[in-house]
Amino acid sequence: MSADTISQNRAMTAFDNHNSVWLFGYGSLIFKADFPFLEQRPASISGWARRFWQGSHDHRGTPQAPGRVVTLIPEAGAQCAGMAYLITPEVFAHLDYREKNGYLRLSTTITFDDGSHAEGLVYIATAENAAFLGPASEQEIASQIAASQGPSGRNQDYLIGLAQALRELGQEDQHVFEIERHLLQLPPT
Ligand code: SIN
Repeated sequence: MSADTISQNRAMTAFDNHNSVWLFGYGSLIFKADFPFLEQRPASISGWARRFWQGSHDHRGTPQAPGRVVTLIPEAGAQCAGMAYLITPEVFAHLDYREKNGYLRLSTTITFDDGSHAEGLVYIATAENAAFLGPASEQEIASQIAASQGPSGRNQDYLIGLAQALRELGQEDQHVFEIERHLLQLPPT
């Protein structure tokens, strides 16, 4: 699969006739909502675990020295908490560009914190994309994050921003918090 997913995402027609679409964000889309939305609601999706397994060539690293950002990995019984945004279809042009380094739009059921549901979309970078890095220990991931930066800034600001946003949502994420703990033990860069 090509590293640039814009054309694949443009061909995604699942919600074409809708005036508005729910988008589930679980990474930078939680703490950096640089797009217009009609409504936002804390939410979760089932069967997915958040992992810092995706390489970032265009935001928090470079093709030569990729940073690490989150994607979702299928895991039976897992729940991933994040933020859902109700957006108009025009916003996907911006989001497809922002998420072009490996992320594909996928339909999913979103569960809001009051227990109600809606069908919506989530951007997921699967293991087939060219920028995928896969598993490493939380300590190794922290070291790579500490050393990385790209056009959107320092990789550690992405990690800290995500951990902070999850705390503000009242959510525990062991993987994210463990990487943050290791990062904070490293000498400042
Ligand atoms: C997301 O936040 O939902 C996708 C991953 C990212 O942009 O960090």
